[in-house]
Amino acid sequence: MLLHTPAASSSVPVATAAAVSSSTSQESCHRLLASVSSSVFSASPSPVLRRFLNTQQLSLGVGQQHLRIAHHPVCPMATAVVSKSALISETPAWNSLKNHLGHINKTHLRDLLKDKERCEGMIKEYDGVVVDFSRQRVTHETLEKLLALAKEAKLKEKIESMFNGEHINKTEGRAVLHVALRAPRYEQISCDGKNVVPDVWEVLDKIKDFTDCVRNGTWVGVTGKPLTDVVAIGIGGSFLGPLFVHTALQTVMGVGVCSLSNVDPVDVACALNGLEQETTLVVVVSKTFTTAETMLNARTLRAWITSALGQVDVPFSVSKHMIAVSTNLKLVKEFGIDPANAFAFWDWVGGRYSVCSAVGAVPLALQYGFETVQKFLEGAWSIDKHYHNAPLEENLPVLLGLLTVWNVSFHGCSAMAILPYCQALQKLAPHIQQVSMESNGKGVSIDGETLPYEAGEIDFGEPGTNGQHSFYQLIHQGRVVPCDFIGIIKSQQSIVSNHDELMCNFFAQADALAYGKTREELRAEGVPDYLIPHKTFTGNRPSLSMLLPTLDAYTTGQLLSIYEHRVATMGFIWGINSFDQWGVELGKSLATRVRTQMNAARTKGEPVQGFNYSTTTLLNRYLKGKTQLLYPEPHDVFPSDIIPGTDNVVPTEKVEQ
Ligand code: F6P
Repeated sequence: MLLHTPAASSSVPVATAAAVSSSTSQESCHRLLASVSSSVFSASPSPVLRRFLNTQQLSLGVGQQHLRIAHHPVCPMATAVVSKSALISETPAWNSLKNHLGHINKTHLRDLLKDKERCEGMIKEYDGVVVDFSRQRVTHETLEKLLALAKEAKLKEKIESMFNGEHINKTEGRAVLHVALRAPRYEQISCDGKNVVPDVWEVLDKIKDFTDCVRNGTWVGVTGKPLTDVVAIGIGGSFLGPLFVHTALQTVMGVGVCSLSNVDPVDVACALNGLEQETTLVVVVSKTFTTAETMLNARTLRAWITSALGQVDVPFSVSKHMIAVSTNLKLVKEFGIDPANAFAFWDWVGGRYSVCSAVGAVPLALQYGFETVQKFLEGAWSIDKHYHNAPLEENLPVLLGLLTVWNVSFHGCSAMAILPYCQALQKLAPHIQQVSMESNGKGVSIDGETLPYEAGEIDFGEPGTNGQHSFYQLIHQGRVVPCDFIGIIKSQQSIVSNHDELMCNFFAQADALAYGKTREELRAEGVPDYLIPHKTFTGNRPSLSMLLPTLDAYTTGQLLSIYEHRVATMGFIWGINSFDQWGVELGKSLATRVRTQMNAARTKGEPVQGFNYSTTTLLNRYLKGKTQLLYPEPHDVFPSDIIPGTDNVVPTEKVEQ
């Protein structure tokens, strides 16, 4: 057994470490060591131990557990031992992949694709979803090594912990149970000793009742008219997931639902364009019910509703025209929305994983009916079961996750393109952007240790063929960007020739990336010498192809679940917490500081202070510019404008400086 530093791989025999830890001559250090001995092997060291620990560490790999040998800054001889998970990059499985990379770099997809047996083993199917990853830069040996990495990372156990409702989101002390949102009524999924499935279905039943009433006109607005339009306010996970599903199913007509996410007044204007208060239902979707953008938009729309309908009874107009989806029912009530018209979910559902809760179910059921929501949940659950139970080598989300780790961490590809050959999937990439980048965009391990490797990747995408006429140039001849091509066998529309044309591109692009075009081929075509470098395609660019039988609520659910679990797999392998999002907090709190200053400058004429030169200059420029604005039609300015507060009135007359 060897001790080795995490960054460098120099190693010290374990006996030496033991000797180091027992050889301290300073009494105080001995006392400290004694006090921490009970913390040895504990994942969370005591405060005393925490203070005692220093960043300069030696580590001892013992299976999955690492014993960190930490040196005290004042008492360098003193050494404490705490238990931490080994960084995956320190394991033999990771090193074996690193060594294997040299071999793969000598291959070309052009040759790998000639091997029929190899390709056969790389086309997998589950419940109608076909995934072909033969155009990834892998051999069967690579796959074996990736599966060994999964074993080393205890992937199976981590998946089990997620489904068991353990608090795997350690920094927020929460379970991660979005899978419970799609579980059938009879299933049992426990969180803190309680089966949560009945709670899920209680809310789903309430959603069905309410949305049926709105759709069949039983639920009417204050003037007695049925509600024919819905504005769903929300941002991040309270917007992107529902928008993705809503767009995927758009050929099915229903109540008109539009989204309002951005705090930009232009977005408010677009959302309200053509709507009448007396026939509009506003759904405020926010897990926390504190998100600044959402709450400002909610206040703006409350003012919009009550200005037209609330002359007699404000609470009544709000109760008929505003509902909420949140985990924070107390704030919903304080806002003025009747708790009877609120749809709950739970803190074991992460925002970006919440589309299967009331967050997505309410707007979707309003638009397409509850049956569609149910099919969507069934599709997601089909993949959930597969992820939970299928062996790793047959498990689609696991394989996709491992291949992405291979591309990111070993081939150094920092981006991934999501390219559905299906217009209705135009919001898949923006949704997966949040699911993946908010989940895996982390720089430290779940134990808080700085990662010596990159985690996460930059996701982007557009539907084919639009993307082809935009950024594919870079993908073909510039940087290497692994691509997901997603195709549909039966289009939602029956114009066969258009769909065939679309799918021709789906097949062609994957091969163009893999094979490229050689100088020899170009010469044979008579291409002049000076153009040959420009027209050469190196090929050998990885992609995977996914084929769905059709795009409906069920397959949309499958697709969602495949991507969610792929992202979880990557996080589990990288050893990070894929379920928190501390990285979004700093910007939010700085915006609060700016907001305070902006208010003070506007209302009390106080000078902008406490910022750097750049921010101060631009902020002053903004404030000055704003005071010089003349709004020709004051009624076009939304009641709250940018900053709430009665003393902050938007100027309607030009003020000279
Ligand atoms: O962007 C940060 C975030 O917390 C996301 O994780 C979340 O989806 C979004 O804000 C919206 O949060 P809420 O649903 O609480 O309004």
